[in-house]
Amino acid sequence: SVSGGVDDDLTGLRVAVSTGGTREPLDPVRFLGNRSSGRQGAEIAAAAARRGARVTLVAASVDDGVLDEVSRHPRVSVVRAETAAELGDAMTDAAGDADVVMMVAAVADYRPAEVSDRKLRKEDGPLASITLVPNDDILAGLAAARRDGQTVVGFAAETVDGPAEMLERARRKRERKGVDLLVVNEVGWSTGFGAGENAVAVIGADGEVVVEASGSKAVVADAVWDAIASARGIR
Ligand code: CTP
Ligand code: CA
Repeated sequence: SVSGGVDDDLTGLRVAVSTGGTREPLDPVRFLGNRSSGRQGAEIAAAAARRGARVTLVAASVDDGVLDEVSRHPRVSVVRAETAAELGDAMTDAAGDADVVMMVAAVADYRPAEVSDRKLRKEDGPLASITLVPNDDILAGLAAARRDGQTVVGFAAETVDGPAEMLERARRKRERKGVDLLVVNEVGWSTGFGAGENAVAVIGADGEVVVEASGSKAVVADAVWDAIASARGIR
């Protein structure tokens, strides 16, 4: 079968995908967040739906414009989440009957230990530091709860000095998370997050690179589904 996702090879597959970046509130008007636009995850959801899958897309602080097209697809339902805890609950729900579970979202590793219910003010005195507590690892939890026949996929955006370091980090991260496949891409101040193009490698269960792809986020999305389809024996 040809690669490139032109056919309906994912028909009947149920998919749960997270995208965007979580926001951890500090007070009613401030949060700790990250630069993830949610575009790559939206393209992954759109590609799966186009190839026949039914998709739940859990989106954390993604601009409406990014979700506009994918949310119109009849086989896609979009669920909104804000914090890591909300995203974790939504993904655990969606994973219940999913064949493929994919965490593309950039999840905050920490959240403020205390959330002020009114705006923090300078007149309260200088804010010298913010105490943080770790968030649960959603992906590791989903992988540990994996059912027979379920494929769990992680994403890692790494700042690295070169491709060798990127692959080494990706291999370790795939093992640490206990996932079937880990998609890795390099990010920097101006690459990856928010950019129109992306370049990824998909690491398989033996630590080998099963797919490499670069180009538009739509092209990368189809390549990721090619890797998942082949891991599931669909192609
Ligand atoms: N992830 C998650 N829950 C978290 C943190 C990360 O589910 N609390 C998921 C992300 O959605 C992604 C994968 O784990 O699919 C890798 O995220 P990454 O931040 O690269 O991994 P970490 O284990 O947080 O490692 P690092 O110290 O490099 O941030
Ligand atoms: Ca992290």
